[in-house]
Formats: sequence, structure tokens, C-alpha cells
Amino acid sequence: MRVLGIETSCDETGVAVYDTALSGGDGLLGDALYSQVAMHADYGGVVPELASRDHTRKLLPLVEQVLADARMTRGELDGIAYTAGPGLVGALMVGAATAHGMARGLNIPALGVHHMEGHLLAPMLEDDAPAFPFVALLVSGGHTQLVEVQGLGEYRLLGESVDDAAGEAFDKTAKMLDLPYPGGPHVARLAEQGDPARLRFPRPMTDRPGLDFSFSGLKTHTLTAIHKLNAAGELTEQGRADVARAFEDAVVDTLTIKCRRALDDTGLKRLVVAGGVSANARLREGLAKACAKRRAAAFYPRGRFCTDNGAMIAYVGAQRLAAGERDTPGQMQATPRWPLEQLRAPAGAETESPTP
Ligand code: KG4
Ligand code: ZN
Repeated sequence: MRVLGIETSCDETGVAVYDTALSGGDGLLGDALYSQVAMHADYGGVVPELASRDHTRKLLPLVEQVLADARMTRGELDGIAYTAGPGLVGALMVGAATAHGMARGLNIPALGVHHMEGHLLAPMLEDDAPAFPFVALLVSGGHTQLVEVQGLGEYRLLGESVDDAAGEAFDKTAKMLDLPYPGGPHVARLAEQGDPARLRFPRPMTDRPGLDFSFSGLKTHTLTAIHKLNAAGELTEQGRADVARAFEDAVVDTLTIKCRRALDDTGLKRLVVAGGVSANARLREGLAKACAKRRAAAFYPRGRFCTDNGAMIAYVGAQRLAAGERDTPGQMQATPRWPLEQLRAPAGAETESPTP
């Protein structure tokens, strides 16, 4: 089954085609991404109305481009998957309406899929895809979650952020340090010059049991540290780098401690890390050490599939459409808030599950 995937939940227009007749990364016949980051940068964050309008402009040309790259015509598609949530409602509606319009014209099924399920299963597009079950750490701009994954649609939430997401904390710290949006990669780059011994920030909620996270206190701590350095005339380039380093170390340590705990609690030996923050090099180092100690393995999507993309949506949509799931024709879904635990395994699913 050849499925077109459409991602428009936030500030990236992503399109891809996935073929369930092939497995893993081979099934990906084409993918393309248009990032709106430059357009939103002037505002220091995503402007929802601008995002929706830009998706409207870019989506159909991207679909044509991906089909051409895959050497396919629209008529060869067997289904269309789109991100139905969570995300910005106007942005979601562009993808949903386009998917349903195309599906009706081509007389093929459409299916709305969950954005975080896309991130969760993005490592399935790699040659060394993880087998089920595994623990997943989802760290994006909107989410920080630890999930026990038994199979497609079988998710148990182990813990999540009670306030800011990890990526959001990176973005806010970047703003405090006058770095551009989205801030994660900029904070990480500045932190490379930082002295890890100069400042130490707290590791929130690690001194008590449980797998929940909280990053808003860390944000306040960062702001206080910046004010103190500024008052002492020490907010130099080095001072800013030291703050970035202390902040990054605190987030990375906190995420690593909770992942260790999740692996120990579940007894699982595979850890999937996905979402924008999974691109962070120091986080990967910390998790590699934690996994090595437990004879566990860590799995990541390739760099460009860590952040939002169409390939992960095409993949998840293809698995679910192949199992017979579909939207009622003409009833598009756009669900800005949609808890991952509400997802279910497709009934009578014959889904792709790579062997270890
Ligand atoms: O998954 P994603 O592309 O979009 C959402 O669904 O939110 O994640 C974007 C988030 C942003 O907050 C960005 O600052 C963060 O991921 N990010 C990083 C890095 N690359 C992206 N955070 C830390 N270090 C990075 N290298
Ligand atoms: Zn995302």
C-alpha cells in the first residue's frame, strides 16, 4: 500500500510517500520538507495564522515534488495520512482539508494520525529499527513524555512534564540569552564554549520517586543566574556560554536520570528517543552511557527525522491504513489537544514489526 503522508501541525510543511510492501527505510519512496523557521524568527516564535497561510501555499507544490521524486502519479496512491493533532488548529486544518480533498478526488481512504505517534515510531524508518517492546522518550517543543511501547497503538504513559516541555525550556533559555528561535540548537552550540564547573543548576524532580518532569523552575533559575552575572558585570560571551552549559547539563542530566529509572522500572532493554530535542548531542552522550551500563540499546531517527517531518506521518498512516483504519469520508479530523494514551492498536492489525 502506497501512502502519502502530510505533516502541518506547527511550522514545518512535511510530505512523504511510504510503501508497506517494502520494510524499514526502503519503504520510504520520497520525502520533502519546507521549514517556516525563517519566517517566524522575526517574531521569536511561531505565529499561528502565518503558519496556516504558509502551509496553504507550500503543501500542494511539495506533494507534486515528492510524487515526482518517487516517480509516481497521484493515481498510484492507495491512501493519504495526515497529522490530525496535537498541534495548532489552523495549521492542522490545512493538512486535514488537503488530505480529505485529495482522497475524495482519488477515491482512496484518508486517515488522521497522531503527531507524537509519528515521532515515537520515526526510528522504524532506519535500518536498525527497534523491535517492540521499548521505552520511548519523546522530547519536543510541546511534549516531554516517557512511554512504554508494546506495539503499534499500545502505549502506557510512564511520566510527563507537569509544566514546560524540554524543547520549550531550551527555546525560552535561548530567548533570555538573545539567541534566535528555535533556540535548542543555538543554546547547544553556545554551551560548547561554556565551563561546566562554573555554575550548577538544579535537576528538577530527580530527588523523589516517579517519572514526571518539571522544567519551569529551571527556567526561573536560569533567569536569576543571568541577572546575577549581569549585575556583576560578568554577562560576557563566556558568561552567557557558562549559563547555556549549566542549563543544558541540567536538562540532559534530568532526562538521563528519568530514562535510567524507566529502563530499570520496566526491565526493558531498548530505548527510543525522538522529537526535536533528541538531536541534542550531549543528551545522546548521556543516554549512551546509561544504556551501556544496562546492556540496553538506544535508537534514534536520523537527524532530519528527529524534528517534524512528513516521513513519520506517512509511516504511521501506512501501518494503520494497511490494517483497515480510515476516516469517515468527508469528515476531517483536527484535534489540537489529543493525549497519546487515547490511541489504540488497530483491530486485526497486520503491522510491520521488525525483528531485533
Ligand atoms: O519535534 P519538533 O521539531 O517540534 C515539535 O513538535 O515541537 O521539536 C522542536 C524543538 C524545539 O523546541 C527546538 O528548540 C528543539 O526541538 N531542538 C533542540 C535541538 N534541536 C532542536 N533542543 C536541544 N538541542 C538541539 N540540538
Ligand atoms: Zn514534533
